[in-house]
Amino acid sequence: MEARTRSRTCLVIVLAAGEGTRMYSARPKVLHAVAGRSLLTHVLDAVAKSGVTATAVVIGPGQDEVAAEAGRVLPGAAIFTQRERRGTAHAALAAKSAIERGADDILIVYGDTPLIRPATLSRLRAPLAGGAALAVLSFRPADPTGYGRLVMQGEELIAIREEADASASERAIALCNGGLMALAGNGALAILERIGDHNRKREFYLTDAVEIARGMKLRAVAVEVEEDDVRGINTKSQLAEAETVAQQRLRRAALDAGVTLIAPETVFLSSDTKFGRDVVVEPYVIFGGKVTVEDGAVIHSFSHLVGAHVGKGVSVGPFARLRPGTRLGEGSRIGNFVEVKEAVIEAGAKANHLSYIGDAFVGANANIGAGTITCNYDGADKHRTTIGKDAFIGSNSALVAPVEIGEGAYVGTGSVITENVPPDALALARGRQTIKEGWASRLRGLKSLGRKKAPVREQ
Ligand code: UD1
Ligand code: CA
Repeated sequence: MEARTRSRTCLVIVLAAGEGTRMYSARPKVLHAVAGRSLLTHVLDAVAKSGVTATAVVIGPGQDEVAAEAGRVLPGAAIFTQRERRGTAHAALAAKSAIERGADDILIVYGDTPLIRPATLSRLRAPLAGGAALAVLSFRPADPTGYGRLVMQGEELIAIREEADASASERAIALCNGGLMALAGNGALAILERIGDHNRKREFYLTDAVEIARGMKLRAVAVEVEEDDVRGINTKSQLAEAETVAQQRLRRAALDAGVTLIAPETVFLSSDTKFGRDVVVEPYVIFGGKVTVEDGAVIHSFSHLVGAHVGKGVSVGPFARLRPGTRLGEGSRIGNFVEVKEAVIEAGAKANHLSYIGDAFVGANANIGAGTITCNYDGADKHRTTIGKDAFIGSNSALVAPVEIGEGAYVGTGSVITENVPPDALALARGRQTIKEGWASRLRGLKSLGRKKAPVREQ
């Protein structure tokens, strides 16, 4: 950030009161997610990192969830409610008392531009330190539909025309309004309070601030940025486009930090995914929120991870599902078609094939045979399974929780374990095998006599 900007105080007003009608969703628009976190969180995170002094968030009536989300991300943010949705300038004035408290710069940002970066916010403020009264971020979108158009005269910004009010020639302007505006603190309130609603939508447009500032002989400028920085989200298509950009950025950051992504475009990350050194991620892996992968771990193809901690040198997948509360200790192995939830798998333990391990503790170096299931749910409550270190669970066993398998114990293949197994014991809990000599050839003999449905009573 420029030194002159750094020394100035700044109030940021985040507008998040819109209903997001064009999303056709019951959820408030700013709570839709990109890269695993809400649009609002993306914006507030950028705001927090850009060195501002105070933050105000404007929400709609009854949008408690939006207020809660803002409070989680920025506990210091002041929340204001815009009682009626009468446009972006009207929304900014909902935070009037914060503006009155005074700041060198007032930054008004929209809660629906999740790709904004801290450095871009600083660039927007820079002209204020140079004497401009107003600055907006401009860009040249591939498809300008829905954006306000910037009317320029040389370097000077003359006006912003909303699409609904624009003439055919104004609509042909390629330079659009990114929606973020910086106002010099001393004139901000006077400008905002002069904005009227004389337009097609009968709304108080923040964009009218430009013409008003010029009428007051103040200077307005535009700072041009890449489309990706200011993409506004009004529709589900735009949400998907923003996701694409966010994923490209996350993959790039992971690669730059030394993670091996064999086919980066097939790996989906979350904003909070954390990787250690020398991690390898094979093609087609999805990281939901809150995943940490430590040094040297390998995530094989087609695995899906959410809320999991993957320790050093662990091998996951292919086709593994790690759900929240999974903690995999150093060198452990979770193989194909294994699902783990709310479970600690200690160092060196293995579940290599076809298992469900939920609400469990698996001690170091234990071996979970193929097809083992922890039966953690009795239809009403969840129960825990504890497997001691070095235990061996034979294939296709059902461990009916709550149950404890002692250290070094051995569970025979195909057992249904309903009682605790002492350390170092053998538990066998399955039907006994019976043999009927010659039974099969007798059956075939009956069939060849033309009896389609042989009565098979001995079973
Ligand atoms: C706005 C700009 C447009 C710009 C575009 C960039 C205006 C009048 N138009 O249009 O020039 O190109 O953003 O993405 O500003 N909001 C409220 N209260 C309201 C209305 C809106 O809080 O009464 C909030 C919304 O939650 C949203 C933001 O303000 O976060 C922008 O509103 P939106 O309706 O999306 O404006 P656009 O039509 O996209
Ligand atoms: Ca918008």
